[in-house]
Amino acid sequence: MTTGVLTRQLAPGIEVQIVSPADFGSAAADLVQNQLAVKANAVIGFPTGNTPLPLYHELLRRQQQGQIDLSQLQPVMLDDYLGAVGDEPISFYNWLRREFFDPAGIAASRIWRMPTDPDGIDEACRRYEQGLVERGGVDLQLLGLGLNGHIGFNEPGSPADSRTRVVKLTETTTVANAAYWSDPSKVPHSGVTMGVGTILEARSIGLLVNGAAKAEILRAALLGPMTTAVPASLLRKVQKVHVVADEAAASQLG
Ligand code: GLP
Repeated sequence: MTTGVLTRQLAPGIEVQIVSPADFGSAAADLVQNQLAVKANAVIGFPTGNTPLPLYHELLRRQQQGQIDLSQLQPVMLDDYLGAVGDEPISFYNWLRREFFDPAGIAASRIWRMPTDPDGIDEACRRYEQGLVERGGVDLQLLGLGLNGHIGFNEPGSPADSRTRVVKLTETTTVANAAYWSDPSKVPHSGVTMGVGTILEARSIGLLVNGAAKAEILRAALLGPMTTAVPASLLRKVQKVHVVADEAAASQLG
């Protein structure tokens, strides 16, 4: 367990673990390690973005040290861009492979890829959900937090019972996402995401939040009204959420 952490209960079933920035990756990696300790072939949903990078670095470090066994892990995806097919560089699938799956030796055949081909996408989204069911459901869903409160690409207004589907991205999101890619003008304006309802069905959920820029929205998500206007606030509907926040992100929690 990471040392020097403060764990608080802000809402029923929502545990908030506040850590120093140096411990952030380790605290997030503990969620994965604890899950794999009870189920070696756990189905785990992985997010993209800047937030989970310390998590992936730490998981790779632990694997190299022989401290964690990822050989049976069943990874699933949270979201991607509509049209990010094949080897398209602006793709969360390829981002995850580069940052985590490939260096961890996780074969592409083990990854349940979010569909992105616009052709037949609605049916492919249904098959994606079916694939989660066939894997026995998601054991641990890891999430980042968008500046506007989105989880995955569930933008404000996304219903609590929404399923995997195509969504129109807000300008806040496309601007924030431009930071991931060398050509910001090419960031797609539509995404494909697990729905809020899909996420809430996971057996456990880890919300990872770091940096001062997320302090206000994390406060709104955990202490403000539970509303579709702040999709992350809907996580309070279920009592199985563990938040890992660094001190800057947690600074508005009182
Ligand atoms: C992106 C992704 C989310 C991610 C979030 C936060 O748009 N769709 O899955 O969790 O926004 O990103 P970051 O961690 O870079 O702040």
